[in-house]
Amino acid sequence: MTFCKSAETMIYAYIPGVAAYIGVDVGDTFEYFSYLCETSKIYRTMKYNFDKIVERRGTSCVKWDALQEHFGRTDLTPLWVADMDFEVCPEITEALRARVDHRVYGYGCPADGYWQSIIDWQRNMHGFTFSREELCYVPGVVKGIAFALNYFTDKGDKVVIQEPVYHPFRAVAQGNGRVVVNNALRAANGFYCMDIEGLERIFAAEHPRMMILCNPHNPIGITWSRETLVEVASLAKKYGVIVVSDEIHGDLALFGHEHIPFATVSDEAAEVAVTFGAPSKTFNIPGLVSSWCVVKNPALRSGFFGWLAANEFSDPTFVATIATETAYKCGSAWLDSCKAYIENNILAVEEFCAKRLPGVRPVRPQASFLVWLDCSALGMSHDKLIATFVGKAHLALNDGTIFGAGGENCMRLNVATPRASLLKALNALEAALNA
Ligand SMILES: Cc1ncc(COP(=O)(O)O)c(C=O)c1O
Repeated sequence: MTFCKSAETMIYAYIPGVAAYIGVDVGDTFEYFSYLCETSKIYRTMKYNFDKIVERRGTSCVKWDALQEHFGRTDLTPLWVADMDFEVCPEITEALRARVDHRVYGYGCPADGYWQSIIDWQRNMHGFTFSREELCYVPGVVKGIAFALNYFTDKGDKVVIQEPVYHPFRAVAQGNGRVVVNNALRAANGFYCMDIEGLERIFAAEHPRMMILCNPHNPIGITWSRETLVEVASLAKKYGVIVVSDEIHGDLALFGHEHIPFATVSDEAAEVAVTFGAPSKTFNIPGLVSSWCVVKNPALRSGFFGWLAANEFSDPTFVATIATETAYKCGSAWLDSCKAYIENNILAVEEFCAKRLPGVRPVRPQASFLVWLDCSALGMSHDKLIATFVGKAHLALNDGTIFGAGGENCMRLNVATPRASLLKALNALEAALNA
């Protein structure tokens, strides 16, 4: 497969059947259009420039400006923290700019359109229906999970997670004095599945009060099947476990996979679910702190939402509500284009590894812009692996072991970056491994 060097003035196409990019110069135009084709059938159109290299250093962003703190050096290409190096869809910037230009920044009061935009987006994208009273703002998904842990469980209670998994699940539970029980993911056919028998054993023997489900699952990028979610729900109902479902990556299902909101799969699921979501990963606005929580079951909801309100945890800033409403109302074309670009970046990583990094096996994500790299075939100790990525290749990826058991010899690669930067990073890795 050859990759065309796209520019703002190119039309280009990726045709898997033909395995080639076709570039067409369209002259001096502001926008560029890319047609992603599948066996000659055009299925997506995009008019945004994800190839643009945006200088992020000096903007107080963790990914670029906190390298010294996290890696002890600054001479690294950052491919770690889960945000994108892409500019957001222009409508979000325009809406924020219009509000900022008003120059009076008093307390916010979310417009009805804000709540309705979340309700409409979830119903239209994922068939997840809920009313305004079942919906609440939270200042971040991790904070929301922490609130739920504190509200629904007590110190010493057991909480189930499934490693390797997004590391704050363990940190937040342990940091609040809860006992974490790991139902490890099971490797199966080059991918991963949930150990349902293991889950039932844990529910029966350990009597956890809560399970934190990562749906889709970060860092592997698993969109859980309906059957799996139905089983989780029925076990949770049987053993009296509240399921906190973190669906922050739900809008980023790729390659024809589908995100299924946990609360939708059965009546039992709706009864045990506390769902958290956000437009933050979807539209690259995590710094604006705009997340939401849905609880269908009134017995869980009334106390929890009341507690959030009493502590003023559920009051959004106007920046959050404006960005959210605009993203959900105007952002779907941008999102389609962004996901197409991410899919092509993942294909590029796969192609590169197959040809030039045979010891590195990218596990294709079904959702998200994060690629789990299984580096066990390199035959290195984990420490040497880290030293090679950081010290020799000058790359800042997430060390697989931060995600807990099962992360050894693995790294998490963030591909939401211009393709040229991504390929440069892979070249650096190849050079480091061959040195
Ligand atoms: C699964 C998952 N949940 C939550 C978050 C963070 O969400 P927030 O910034 O809203 O706390 C991330 C960020 O990477 C994530 O991957």
